[in-house]
Amino acid sequence: MWQTLARCSAFKNGTSEKHDGAEVPQPFCYQHRMKRALVTGITGQDGSYLSELLLQKGYEVHGIIRRASTFNTDRIEHLYKDPHDPEARLFLHYGDLADGTCLRRILERVRPDEIYHLGAQSHVRVSFDEPEYTADIDATGTLRLLEALRDSTGVSGKTVRFYQAGSSEMFGAAAPPQSETTAFHPRSPYAVSKVAAHWYAVNYREAYGMYIACGILFNHESPRRGETFVTRKITRAAARIKLGLQQKLFLGNLDARRDWGFAGDYVEAMWLMLQQERPDDFVVATGESHSVREFVEATFSYLGLDWKSHVEIEPRYFRPSEVDHLRGNPSKARERLGWSPRVTFEQLVRMMADHDLEMARQEKTLRDAGHVAGIRGGGRE
Ligand code: NAP
Ligand code: GDD
Repeated sequence: MWQTLARCSAFKNGTSEKHDGAEVPQPFCYQHRMKRALVTGITGQDGSYLSELLLQKGYEVHGIIRRASTFNTDRIEHLYKDPHDPEARLFLHYGDLADGTCLRRILERVRPDEIYHLGAQSHVRVSFDEPEYTADIDATGTLRLLEALRDSTGVSGKTVRFYQAGSSEMFGAAAPPQSETTAFHPRSPYAVSKVAAHWYAVNYREAYGMYIACGILFNHESPRRGETFVTRKITRAAARIKLGLQQKLFLGNLDARRDWGFAGDYVEAMWLMLQQERPDDFVVATGESHSVREFVEATFSYLGLDWKSHVEIEPRYFRPSEVDHLRGNPSKARERLGWSPRVTFEQLVRMMADHDLEMARQEKTLRDAGHVAGIRGGGRE
């Protein structure tokens, strides 16, 4: 049904918009065109892997980015082409989930076939410090986007497929293994906000017949993982310790268990969810869990280090209410979507440690040559 063309000639005659002062051609030929996706949170870990996947599949990808005082597009830099380049298929729009008017405007301008709603304040510990902001972006931000979509599809009559980025955190205190039928028991402002967003999404599906699929994804990591999530914090620190760039790693609860997979595998599940005839909810997980301590041990031993000589407990990293054990049951995703994870726990640890060792080598080389090497996110959580 969909024709994937390099670029329909009609695109070149489209309307234009300003981006960083430049005129950006806006495609509008709906008869001969590639599928068009809009991604919120495109600058995040998942947004970058998903954009790669969609571009590989021939999509035109539009992403919403926030204005920041520093560049925040490192994760998608390798995908970006100047919008004047006729080969460009990735377009960026300034916007924020706090601003419903701009979301409407972007929807009208882009007119996507699929929306992947990944944007969020995604850090659980930070949500205890910024609960109102987290609720505003993660819960009400989702509602703003759904409302904008309801209005725009009401006018155009077009079916737009919507992916909601739900989280295993929503299960919180519920005993493992958790599946689509497990009752939610959220344990943080982040998790409560994600539960609200999930139910907004389900309600819009039921009330208005909108095509909305809800992923309930368990933790997924990668070399592009934010530096303050525990896996990346561990692999970065272990690599820097290996090269003598730091001595200690301060962590919180080592007993928490998580079902950790590879982000590159998980974005495929998001895409598959939107290719089904009917929208549904899906748990995406490996079905295996490990403690934070096991992740530490695996990383340090891979790098030939004794973790006990370097890791110290810092109570600051404990959470007021913790999620002790997440382990998903991905049977439904396997059976209905034909999805299963490819990267194992051990491969994930190695992939992240290898990447961070290379980063640490670069840092050391600069330092040894007398330069001051500023490492992104260094020393903070
Ligand atoms: P991430 O790396 O933290 O990325 C979050 C993205 O949201 C970034 O692009 C960020 O922009 C954007 N964002 C934050 N606040 C925003 C706002 N006010 N308006 C617009 N955009 C905003 O998260 P991720 O790991 O890729 O996760 C993607 C989604 O899946 C999130 O909704 C997360 O809660 C959910 N999720 C993640 C996991 C996981 O293990 N990774 C598991 C389950 C669910 P900046 O780059 O400007 O900060
Ligand atoms: N961040 C962090 N830093 N976590 C630590 C530390 C530390 O120093 N020490 C121990 N932990 C423990 C946390 O208490 C938690 O039990 C576990 O490590 C994992 O923490 P994070 O990596 O921060 O991830 P998360 O599980 O809280 O949340 C992530 O996964 C969710 C899906 O279950 C995020 O990506 C969420 O956005 C996502 O929804």
